[in-house]
This record gives sequence, structure tokens and C-alpha cells, in this order.
Amino acid sequence: MARLDPHSYADSDQPQTKSLRLKLDVDFDSHRLSGECTLVFDSEVSGPLDLDTRALTLHGARNQTGTEVPYEWADPDPILGQRLRLTLPPGTDAVTLAYETSPEASALQWLTPAQTAGRAKPFLFSQCQAIHARSLAPLQDSPRVRVPYEAELTVPEDLAAVMSAGLQGHLPGPAKGKRTFVFRMPQAIPPYLLALAVGNIDSRDLSPRSRVYAEPETVEAAAWEFAELEKMIVTAEGLFGPYEWDRYDLLTLPPSFPYGGMENPRITFLTPTLLAGDRSLVAVVAHELAHSWTGNLVTNASADHFWLNEGFTVWAERRILEAVYGQDYAAMGWALGLKDLNDALERFGKDSPLTRLRTDLGGVDPDEVYSEVPYEKGARFVTLLERTAGRQRFDRFIRDYMDAFRFTSISTEEFLAFLEEKLPGISSRVNAQAWIYGPGLPDNAPTFPCPALDRIQALAGGWDRGERPDAAAIARWNATEKLLYLQNLARPRTAKECLWLDEAMALTGQGNYEILVEWLCIAAASDYEPAFERIRQVLTRVGRMKYLRPLYAALGGHVRTRAMAHEIFDSAKDRYHPLSRRVIESVMESYPKG
Ligand code: BES
Ligand code: ZN
Repeated sequence: MARLDPHSYADSDQPQTKSLRLKLDVDFDSHRLSGECTLVFDSEVSGPLDLDTRALTLHGARNQTGTEVPYEWADPDPILGQRLRLTLPPGTDAVTLAYETSPEASALQWLTPAQTAGRAKPFLFSQCQAIHARSLAPLQDSPRVRVPYEAELTVPEDLAAVMSAGLQGHLPGPAKGKRTFVFRMPQAIPPYLLALAVGNIDSRDLSPRSRVYAEPETVEAAAWEFAELEKMIVTAEGLFGPYEWDRYDLLTLPPSFPYGGMENPRITFLTPTLLAGDRSLVAVVAHELAHSWTGNLVTNASADHFWLNEGFTVWAERRILEAVYGQDYAAMGWALGLKDLNDALERFGKDSPLTRLRTDLGGVDPDEVYSEVPYEKGARFVTLLERTAGRQRFDRFIRDYMDAFRFTSISTEEFLAFLEEKLPGISSRVNAQAWIYGPGLPDNAPTFPCPALDRIQALAGGWDRGERPDAAAIARWNATEKLLYLQNLARPRTAKECLWLDEAMALTGQGNYEILVEWLCIAAASDYEPAFERIRQVLTRVGRMKYLRPLYAALGGHVRTRAMAHEIFDSAKDRYHPLSRRVIESVMESYPKG
């Protein structure tokens, strides 16, 4: 037996799924998907087949001839879920499992109408990365097992469905009051890219190959915010080669979506907190778009190689931003990233094995150790390779890399071997071993000079000497400059200082959530009462973990703010996404007592 992925029961000695068919009814009353999942093989197979599942109820399994397929459940594992072992009868080329999901399925969030912009209809969305696809369907839930898929989703007739696939059409029925959406994803994707959303979903075209989907109440704002999408796609194609996935659409979700963005193929899922009204947060879209190459074409073989996915994508994101908006704009991205990286290194301790690029996460829940390290350390390593090889040579290398590994899922070691083959000697010149297998940020990390930002950081550092930005300077700052200024202010601050900041920078009314939340963190850490109402609003509305984590952490510093955090969490917890809930619980567990 060979289990190659520490987060999956998939066994490489057993038959590998070649494609997937889903037929599911979406029931908003019971919060369940129910129906069938068919795993297709490319030849006749037999014997044991281990599948990943989590909280699924199985009603039966049969092969393509209708022969019953015996199965056996293993004991559930808290991280991996429950192994389902089928024994395929000789001559099996497809097996169909009749099943339903649990209302607690970790990949799904079922929203009440009150949690949507329209407040009239319920909403459902999925988030499968890293290992939640198994709570949607029984399958070999490892990125090594890539599958094309077909799906039929039956939903209430007043709602629409989207998936990470091409829409073939929809038809009324099969039951009264329902309609069925038919999807096809002909390209092989890792199971973590399976995705669906159901709700009152409207759309606006942005270009012949792109549209934005959102609730009718937010669709215009989303179309305006992301109007420059086609320009980014064309730029990315110039850098990395043709866009391979047919359409590139966006879906702006209700605010409880736990991430900023998720690169579901053909339809990136986005938090509505990107709708700042000034296009200042489009870097997230550049990032998810970049995954169409770095990630969705070539991805990590398991969570231990996650940096191959995210590190390359952050690098690619900033190449796109540089090409579209210029070098200074990209440099600001690098500057914000450095702050995030340093925070993460400090949180883990810079000698922690979790700060290596290549990790060893057997027995560890990938959600628990999610951090900026694979992103920002990874991207710095890729830039170091780029600078050492020279941009032209490196860009050719990236094209070769995409070509060589397209539609596969690879390990760090496979990458290193390819690097040595195509750019011999580079790896040892940059000391790749230290970067990949060692902790912390090596001394030869590339830097991204940006004098404007240095001045802002110095200004923030001078606060205690009475230095303040004047109104004219603040008016000239862009969103990143404001954010960097706030990030570099020591806290707590006095109530008088908080008031000054809020008025001088118009913070409480900010539409840019990065700035708003940084301000609210300062206010929370300073026990600044006038901001409490805004903090409460944000924490009850927004589920993006990137905002919940620091804001709940900042509330831990004072008796009164801790009490407020507990109170907000108790009243909001049933509405949080399961992932967000866990993150907050772990933040609150480390609050001082009392
Ligand atoms: N694929 C990730 C999101 C993710 C990672 C979900 C791991 C689950 C497990 C996505 O591409 C991402 O990185 N999103 C970032 C935005 C980005 C600009 C760094 C986010 O959501 O903040
Ligand atoms: Zn990403």
C-alpha cells in the first residue's frame, strides 16, 4: 500500500479515479445535498478502493452493471475524516455511490436569507481547499488524483447554480418547483477545486470571456470594481502563455465567505469586502487569476508542497500587477507581504518547522497551520531564482515548467530536479536547500526598494516624537500607503490619539476593508470606545478569516474588549462559517483569563 498524501486515504496501488459524475439535489430545508457520485475508471478494475469521506451518509454502492459493491467504514479520524473501503467486483469500470451530506459538511455554508444582500432568499456556497471536498462527495481527495467532472445540480426553481465548470444549460424539474443545472468540466482538476454556489445569482458581462456573478444587489458594484479584468487576463497571457480554461468568471459571495478569494477554475470565488468602491483591492483578483497557471495547471502534490502553489502564485500576481500598474504598485504589494511574513514568522517562532517551505504535515490539519509563509517566503524564493537567472531566462523557464507539468500535481523535489535540469547550478547558487528545508527567511532574500514607503514607515515610527502626517500628505496617499502607515503605528494609543487618527484619515467610514480593519485593530487594542459599534458590525457581518483573526486578537488586550469579544462571538457564532468559527475559538482560547 502506498499513501502518498498525508491528508488522504487515496492509495496509489489501487485504481485511480479517471472522472467523476455528480447528481445532487440541493435541499435548503434540511441543509443536505443528496444523490449520487459516480467514480469512473479507464479500464476494468477490481479489489479494494479507499475513499475519503467526512460526515457522509451512504445509502448503497453499485457498479456499472448494477452489481452491489461491498463496503466497510474505518473509524473516523479527527483530521482526515472517515475512510470508506469499497471492494470492487471484477469487471468494474464505474461505481455509483448513493449518499447524502451532513448539515455540518465542512465544505459548505448554508446561509439564511438574512445573511445575504437581498435578505429574501437563502444561499449556499462551497470551499473545498484544502481537504473538504470529502465532505461533499466520497472520492480520492488528494490533488494527485486529478479528475474531469460532470454534474447535475437540482435547486429550487427561483435560485441559480454555478460551479467550477462550464454551464451546459438548465431544465425544469425533475420535481415540481425545481430546476436542474447541468455542468461539465472537461479538464482534469484536483478535488480541492470542486466548487458550487446556489442562490439568487445575477451576472454582468465584463468581456466576451468574463462576467461577474453576484446577488442582484451587489452585481453593479462588482462589475465596476472588476472592470479591468480583461486587461489583467491579456497581461497574464503575455507572461505565462494562453489562458487554458475557456471562461474566467468571478463570483462575489455574501460576506461570510471565509477567504479573500478562491481560484475555483473558470469561476473565482471572492469576498464582497473587495468592493471598496475605488478598485484598490484588485490584487486579490490578480492573485486568483494567476492561479489559472500556477496552481490550477500545475499544483502541489499535497499540503506539504503548498508553497509551490501559493509562492509561485504570489510571484505571478506581482508580475501581473507590475505589468498592468507599474513597478511601484507591485513594490507596495511586496511591502505589505513582508509585514505579513514577519508577523507569521514571529507567531510561529522563526526556527519553527512550520516556517520551512517544504513542510511535514502528517497528523496536522492544514487549516490549523495556514499562514503567509508559503505565500511570501515562497514568492521571495521564486524572485531570487528570477533575479539570479535573469528575467528573460527565468520567464522562459516558467513557460517550460508549465508545459512540462501541465495538468499534474508535483512535489518540491520534482520541481528542484526540473530546476537543476533547465537552469543548472542556480539552485546551489541561491542555496535552495536552506530556503526549502530550513526555517525562517534566509539572508539572501531579495528586497523591493520603495522610497515612498520607507518615508511612510519612518513617519509612523516618529509618532511618539510628535511626528504626524499633514492633511495634504494624507490626501496624496493611496490605499496601500494609508494601510502601511497604520500597520506601522505602535499600539495601544490614547483615546485622544485615536480620535485624531480617525478624523485625519476618515477611518471609521472607510470602504477599503484592509484599512478599516487595521484601524479597528488599533482601536480595539486601545480600548477606544467610539469604535466599538463599528467593530461589532464588522465582526457580525464579515467572515473573512484574515480580518476576524487580528480583530478578535486585538480585542484580547482589555477586560472590557474581551467581554465584548465573547458577547459578539456568542451571538454571531451560529452564522459564522465553520472555518471562521474555529479560528476565532482558537484566538479566544489564548486570551488572558478574566
Ligand atoms: N487558494 C487560496 C485560498 C486557500 C488556501 C483556501 C488554502 C483554503 C486553503 C487563495 O488563492 C488565496 O491565497 N487567497 C488569499 C488572497 C491572496 C491575495 C493572498 C486570501 O484569501 O486571502
Ligand atoms: Zn492563492
